[in-house]
Amino acid sequence: AFRQKSPKPSPLVNLKVQKESSKVVNMVDIEDLGDKVCYCRCWRSKKFPLCDGSHTKHNEETGDNVGPLVLKRKA
Ligand code: FES
Repeated sequence: AFRQKSPKPSPLVNLKVQKESSKVVNMVDIEDLGDKVCYCRCWRSKKFPLCDGSHTKHNEETGDNVGPLVLKRKA
């Protein structure tokens, strides 16, 4: 019986952030951090490098389980 191959998943992690750059690097001064900030680790955020919640849709669509890096100042 003919079995159709499932499409290969993209080998790329970054699908659309600053594709004109050879490498995406984000620098943040520690002194400028507020009490809490969430950085994107799924590369799907429209506010990259900040998390905008897009990881939820990505996880639902792919079965992935990624989420943000949360930096939080001790209370
Ligand atoms: Fe990418 Fe939340 S949007 S981790």
